[in-house]
Amino acid sequence: MIVRVLGSAAGGGFPQWNCNCANCAGLRKGLIKTRARTQSSIAVSDTGESWVLFNASPDIRAQIESFALLQPGRAVRDISIVGVVLVDSQIDHATGLLFLREGSPLHVYCTDMVYQDLTGGFPVLNMLAHYCGVERHRIELSVSGEFSIPQLHGLRFVAAPLESKAPPYSAHRYDPHPGDTIGVLLEDRHSGKRLFYAPALGKLEPRILALMEQADCVLADGTFWRDDELLRAGISNKRAAEMGHLSQSGRGGMIEVMHGLKKPRKVLIHINNTNPILREDSPERAELNREGIEVAFDGMEIVL
Ligand code: MLT
Ligand code: MN
Ligand code: ZN
Repeated sequence: MIVRVLGSAAGGGFPQWNCNCANCAGLRKGLIKTRARTQSSIAVSDTGESWVLFNASPDIRAQIESFALLQPGRAVRDISIVGVVLVDSQIDHATGLLFLREGSPLHVYCTDMVYQDLTGGFPVLNMLAHYCGVERHRIELSVSGEFSIPQLHGLRFVAAPLESKAPPYSAHRYDPHPGDTIGVLLEDRHSGKRLFYAPALGKLEPRILALMEQADCVLADGTFWRDDELLRAGISNKRAAEMGHLSQSGRGGMIEVMHGLKKPRKVLIHINNTNPILREDSPERAELNREGIEVAFDGMEIVL
């Protein structure tokens, strides 16, 4: 299995258009050791020929251009993306679907909850019906969560409901339902290797920890270092937990949780532009290094 990180930042990207936090301003002025990042998306393939996107970010156009295997050029209009799996209905994960409108019908894999949001509060799927059309494939959580993608015979996919937070335009924002957010375990049928992908994760329940423990690589929510990160930066009064993201530091934080995982390679993804781990020489990044936790970057490739 080949995993290509197309975008490693959270919603807004890094730098964010209107942000002058220490990281965004530092990056623009060339004062800090870091690199720019586009919004949250990965591409996954079994052989390198056909690819599935996990999430379609507003930066999708640049992301496709950044990775030649997505644009094999076999015909006058062509792409090697055979489908898009959505882990939630957030703007940073679903808006990119609109920029695929010039192609053939889009194969979208999502839960009923995400489908409701994307035909309701944020009706991108309705809009696309007037362009390329959408073939929706249901991710069914009530049985095993297993689903398959026909062109990717070499991979098995198992979805697991996660505790996080549906977006502000969702009918379930304050009425959570299983399937508002999922994590996905991907297994390569030949190598037997597994990836667990969960870019939005508010709480680590024992069943999710068990999935992580089985994985060879965990690609998990790296949005915030502190729960009150946005408050401290004077940006917003929203806490990480209110937004459905488990912060890294402190008791019960992502670092402590990951510390207990013995098998997998650990990588943080969906990093918010305020997060001090974006600075490669920050004390927070040094703490991650000591823990053996990596920070995803655009263009990162993981082969399992
Ligand atoms: C999130 O993951 O919480 C969202 O991306 C936030 C946003 O885009 O506003
Ligand atoms: Mn997000
Ligand atoms: Zn910023």
